[in-house]
Amino acid sequence: MSTIAVVLAAGLGTRMKSGLPKVLHPILGDPSLLWVLRSLPSSLGAALVVVHHGQEKVIAALEAWQAAGLLPCPVEAIPQGEPLGTGHAVKVCTPALDRLGATKVVILSGDVPLLPAGTVADLVASEGLILGMELERPTGYGRVLTDAQGQVRDMVEEKDASPEQREIRLVNGGAYALPWTPLRAALQALKNDNAQKEFYLTDAVVAVAKAHPVSVSVRPEAELLGMNSRLDQAHLQGLAAQAQREAWMREGVTFLHPDSTLIGPRVVLARDVVLEPGVRLEGACVVGEGARLGQGSILTDSRVGEGTEVRPYSVLDRALVGPRSHIGPFARLREGTDLAEGVHIGNFVETKKAIFGPGAKANHLAYIGDAEVGEKTNIGAGVITCNYDGVNKHKTTIGKRVFVGSDTQLVAPVTLGDDSLIAAGSTITKDVPAGALALSRTPQTAKEGWVEKIRRARHTPKNG
Ligand code: UD1
Ligand code: MG
Repeated sequence: MSTIAVVLAAGLGTRMKSGLPKVLHPILGDPSLLWVLRSLPSSLGAALVVVHHGQEKVIAALEAWQAAGLLPCPVEAIPQGEPLGTGHAVKVCTPALDRLGATKVVILSGDVPLLPAGTVADLVASEGLILGMELERPTGYGRVLTDAQGQVRDMVEEKDASPEQREIRLVNGGAYALPWTPLRAALQALKNDNAQKEFYLTDAVVAVAKAHPVSVSVRPEAELLGMNSRLDQAHLQGLAAQAQREAWMREGVTFLHPDSTLIGPRVVLARDVVLEPGVRLEGACVVGEGARLGQGSILTDSRVGEGTEVRPYSVLDRALVGPRSHIGPFARLREGTDLAEGVHIGNFVETKKAIFGPGAKANHLAYIGDAEVGEKTNIGAGVITCNYDGVNKHKTTIGKRVFVGSDTQLVAPVTLGDDSLIAAGSTITKDVPAGALALSRTPQTAKEGWVEKIRRARHTPKNG
């Protein structure tokens, strides 16, 4: 007994007018296809993703998601070749479904991103089910004809439907759970003698329904909306964003301006988090209890500890921030930033692959890259780790309780010992021993009366 998912993702998406395959267009930062795959239960044997248009990009995305552990089950791409219809798309999966020992197949569309996991679970649990919608304006959809017991009797595409059939409001949502053995036989027998000269999956569903009960579950329209244009994408994003906000409000999160705040589907927020206007959180962000994210802050795949304040207009990308820290305003924490408890990173400070110990501070105008900063160390304004020699990156190691004076350049590789003190304006090219004062400035001189002398020389008329 093995249930396998088939996700249809070979379509071109002409109306998106894009160089990117339709199923890779994002909703709240996650591509449509990733939403669909993440809605699958982990009990599935595998998911087969049927690809064609832009398939290199789709396959690369699948591999990246799999490597990042984002997918609930093993995923395999099945190239469809020239797409000849939804029935053809499932038919090309036959060898893989046989090899995987499929007994039941759950079929979804890669461009229908907001189908809830609960609805997918209902499909997985059923023996023969399609998802439908009751629409006031059913135009464009295939119509579903049912018998008195609500079992599927026929399915007709809009273009093949009679005027009477077009009056039917029960439409096919394009998601199915079907037993594999009869579906397999029906797919082999499919013909394309219809208005679109396509092999319709719906014809195979009707054939299966002749011998096996296939019922219809009517779902709210919002669950089955497809993404075919940028308008659809914006509409879907609006619906998803609203659902995310409401869910987090119920969990104890304050939104100062909900409409401008965007929370991706993989974000986790603790209670008493406060989100100021215009905050955007994408990827796998985790925000701890009581943290406050300032206006216009953008966080991607980052973690913020409890009680930490990220002040306005800060950008965090793959950064870890410990508890009770202060970040920004206008800070940029890049990949590999790892801050312990009580760290202060102030305005116009950029960090990359930088590990800060507890209580370390860099409050103004600094670049700290490929560096380790010990606890309670204070990095002055304008300090730069010169980590790149034009070919290689080098490391800067700064000990505990170090004071790095303003406008210092630390030319890596270099180590500053614990309790050392670097005088402002220094260019440090050699290691500094623990407890030492290091300074590299040229001694200051003052030439008395120099300005007056120069001015006089300029205004003295030249002879002749
Ligand atoms: C299909 C259904 C229709 C239903 C509608 C719901 C059929 C014949 N019709 O129509 O009853 O109301 O979905 O949205 O199935 N795809 C492939 N390979 C192909 C063709 C399509 O992978 O050869 C993919 C598309 O990329 C898309 C999905 O299958 O993700 C559905 O295809 P689409 O062309 O949109 O089908 P519809 O005509 O909308
Ligand atoms: Mg469609």
